[in-house]
Amino acid sequence: MQTIVTDSPREAAEYLNAGGIVAFPTETVYGLGAGISYPAAVEKIFRAKGRPADNPLIVHIATPADIDSVAREIGSDARKLVRHFFPGPLTLVLKKSELVPREVTAGLDTVGVRCPSNMIARNFLGFCNCPVAAPSANISGRPSSTSWAAVLHDLEGKIDCILKGTPSDIGLESTIVDCSGKTPLLLRTGAVSIEELQAVIPGIRTAESQNDDEPPKSPGLKYPHYAPTARIRLCEQGESVLPAEKSSSAWIGMSSPPATVRYTSVRQCGTIEEYARILFDFFRQCDALDIDTIYCELPPAKGIGQAIRDRLTRAAALH
Ligand code: TXA
Ligand code: MG
Repeated sequence: MQTIVTDSPREAAEYLNAGGIVAFPTETVYGLGAGISYPAAVEKIFRAKGRPADNPLIVHIATPADIDSVAREIGSDARKLVRHFFPGPLTLVLKKSELVPREVTAGLDTVGVRCPSNMIARNFLGFCNCPVAAPSANISGRPSSTSWAAVLHDLEGKIDCILKGTPSDIGLESTIVDCSGKTPLLLRTGAVSIEELQAVIPGIRTAESQNDDEPPKSPGLKYPHYAPTARIRLCEQGESVLPAEKSSSAWIGMSSPPATVRYTSVRQCGTIEEYARILFDFFRQCDALDIDTIYCELPPAKGIGQAIRDRLTRAAALH
């Protein structure tokens, strides 16, 4: 299959409206979309990414009001979250409407819904003739794509079209809150921080406050994620780093790297937002340079720092 690269949201939507699969920019990471009215295209996404069949997709809507077409029984807490954070980097899990086929939700009765704030994404979604199911546009298990070049690297020849945009502003996937039960439950941290969520829903539950016997609520979270080929070594701020056995190392963090290691590549981030924005791209650069070990400094667990810690811990768990 030939993959067309375009900067026209209208042209990209034409591919989707013809039953194709199309990568598009959002403020979090790039998505790989199929119209929810095209179950065969939805299945193509799973094949292109090598995604496990039981991992549901998030449905993307062009405007916040479209939520009522894809979800039902939307409670007052969910409405509050929509008012505060849509459009933006927040996904709500809600009971699904009949419009959403089970190919999208992997058989679940619930659906993840997100309205991105990125203007290219919203233009594109506006030209699509139905809501768009989209996971992150990367090979399953690898770091998410935060640029169209990263999408091309992972998926060229496997998807119909890439809508070009600028690099993702945030760089990490959306915060996910499950609002399908009595009390909202945080499933995945992201740019909408726990502090911001608690300001709107003081009683929101987090994974830590959940009973261990309860089944995991987000099917995707049990799978390995975000990992470069290089091995990840985590360290807390100020912790000294022992040299790895192999020679080729890299450092990313907010501090300057400990001098115990000689590095091929170093990224010292000025802000926590910059750390989030460049993290996945840095992982990909390290793979291109054949780095063996990436030392990653865990940032403070405040704001988006929680989400960075979560992604780093998952990426490190693979090795
Ligand atoms: O920022 C984002 O969320 C990006 C952009 C493209 O919107 N998308 C994204 O999709 O990160 P993905 O598929 O890589 O991650 C979605 C996560 C998965 O862990 C999946 O299991 C979970 O959301 N999810 C989707 N629908 C769900 C549902 N109905 N109930 C529980 N978890 C759900
Ligand atoms: Mg993903």
